[in-house]
Amino acid sequence: MTRTVIPLTLAAFLVLALALIAGCGGEATTTTAVPSTETTSGGGPEGADLYAADCSSCHGANGQGNIGPALTELTESDIPEIETKVRDGGGGMPSFADTLSEEQIASVAAFVVGLGE
Ligand code: HEC
Repeated sequence: MTRTVIPLTLAAFLVLALALIAGCGGEATTTTAVPSTETTSGGGPEGADLYAADCSSCHGANGQGNIGPALTELTESDIPEIETKVRDGGGGMPSFADTLSEEQIASVAAFVVGLGE
């Protein structure tokens, strides 16, 4: 019988510990999602976050290019092209049709256009 009592106590303790961390850590953890310095760019915070997570590894944190080409010369008239590229990929660029929603693709495209400003 004691065999089951110990894990249960442990589990209860862990749940309590997690609840305490989640409950009290609020103020301290709000600083973790550090946005980019490109706050004036289009696409809003979501576009910036998506770019940082999905694109910056190949196109550079500021669109300066890396494995992929620089994205700093693109303008608003290129948005449909950017969206198509993100959706379909090709030429070494992965397709994001399965990972990003149309809304997310639009917001990351708007952010990309702002990179050259
Ligand atoms: C694995 C690396 C990689 C990732 C991740 C990646 N790209 Fe690319 N991207 C490329 C490569 C390589 C090309 C060049 C493709 C070509 O020449 O057809 C490219 C091309 C592009 C182009 C066309 C540029 C032009 O001048 O014609 C755009 C726009 C673009 N990527 C945007 C994005 C966005 C937005 C994301 C994130 C959602 C992203 N890429 C993620 C590698 C990547």
